Amino acid sequence: MFTVGAGVGGAVLLGAPGSASAAPELWSRPGTVGAPGVAGLHLQFGADASREVVVSWHTTAPVSRPRVLLGSPAGGLGLTVPADTTTYRDARSGTEVRVHHARLGSLRPDTEYVYAAVHDGAPPELGTVRTAPRGRAPFRFTSFGDQGTPTLGKQVNGTWVNDNLGSPAAGDVTAAVEAAAPLFHLVNGDLCYANLATDRVRTWSDWFNNNTRSARYRPWMPAAGNHENELGNGPIGYGAYQTYFSVPDSGADPELRGLWYAFTAGSVRVISLNNDDVAYQDGGNSYVHGYSGGAQRRWLEAELAASRSNPDIDWIVVCMHQVVVSTVDKANGADLGIRENWVPLFDRYGVDLVVCGHEHHYERSHPIRGQQPNDTRTPMPVDTRTDVVDTSRGTVHMVIGGGGTSVPSNHLFFSPARCRVITGVGAPDPNTGKRAPIYVLEDAPWSAVRDPDHSYGFAAFDVDPGKPGGTTSISVTYYAVSDPYGTATPVDHFTLTRPRGAR
Ligand SMILES: [Fe+2]
Ligand SMILES: [Fe+2]
Repeated sequence: MFTVGAGVGGAVLLGAPGSASAAPELWSRPGTVGAPGVAGLHLQFGADASREVVVSWHTTAPVSRPRVLLGSPAGGLGLTVPADTTTYRDARSGTEVRVHHARLGSLRPDTEYVYAAVHDGAPPELGTVRTAPRGRAPFRFTSFGDQGTPTLGKQVNGTWVNDNLGSPAAGDVTAAVEAAAPLFHLVNGDLCYANLATDRVRTWSDWFNNNTRSARYRPWMPAAGNHENELGNGPIGYGAYQTYFSVPDSGADPELRGLWYAFTAGSVRVISLNNDDVAYQDGGNSYVHGYSGGAQRRWLEAELAASRSNPDIDWIVVCMHQVVVSTVDKANGADLGIRENWVPLFDRYGVDLVVCGHEHHYERSHPIRGQQPNDTRTPMPVDTRTDVVDTSRGTVHMVIGGGGTSVPSNHLFFSPARCRVITGVGAPDPNTGKRAPIYVLEDAPWSAVRDPDHSYGFAAFDVDPGKPGGTTSISVTYYAVSDPYGTATPVDHFTLTRPRGAR
């Protein structure tokens, strides 16, 4: 028996509810021999996380009738939603990857759904998803960046050796995030380092195979990092990333689709940015500084203005990759381009929290607002208390880059805290084509908490909407992760607060 869990836009109802003769399509297996399986099953939220979810998977061979069967835990699967297929051809291998996206709309808020992703000839792959609550309600989200793919490989002088910066920890963190059971997970760029790998398509496949054990149950919402920039893939190198993910539409030109976007969950507005547009550092396969011609900045300012004036939004959280703050030596450093382009907007519209990666360790800033009038635009802390932070006074930046790579940077902290800021790049090297960064060293009065002891971990954020007329808060815990069973050890804990909105 099929029961309709919710109305789904464009859906086709298979079998009337209560009809004993309704053929359960899930079990029909048309005789397509050799059909590829449903690989890399994962989820994204739409712009309204309480009503919209996209279910995605991929194949390298063409498939027939990719679709998602949707229903409720009590009623089973009853609706069929066709998937659209988008493709990219990996420029190195020539392999064409086909990504199937089924867009589920008109869902009920704060509701658990079950689904099966299937195409003809393939066994169905099952998942569940919970939609976000509407309005002010408690929920949890999590975050890390710089994951790579899990591999045992071998260790040479204490470092895991492979060609895409993978390590066993890239699997450990996935188990830990899944155990934390967030509503959604933010991936702060440098997903799998496919642009370094000999086999880029396999590297993406490994990344999704590792993470589908969580990403099929809760959306993993990404930001593109410098290692998503793959030579020859797409107009500016992000073709693979743009194809694997179907994120909310930001109105960008088709060539720039999916590189920046926003969505709402409860009273939190999440904004995902691609910092290669404004960063000076030459960190990808090609130098794409300024690629949007200011389009991303214009969108960001409009988005921030709308979010901050929205009476239903309390929290503005930015997910991005390259950093405004970092106190390690011999890694990447902070980037003046982000301080010039984004930080004044974060200040003007009162962004509460920024989660990023790029540096492969954990640290956080004091709340910052304003910049010193110097060469590096040093951020100015507005408070130095580290246990409770009022983000209506300043933005807290968290570097959460211990997602699993073989090159952690937690052993590279300056003592006392200082920051290398990339203020520009030199001419391209005639042999490599790479532009060397120009560094200026600054003091770091904004540095609040640093973790030199653990290479890998994730942060969990528990939103408490508070009461009318009072404050709302986010309880933040950074956990170190050290085994394949998701064992998480709290390392840093603090509370973000701000006045709750008018409603
Ligand atoms: Fe990285
Ligand atoms: Fe990076």
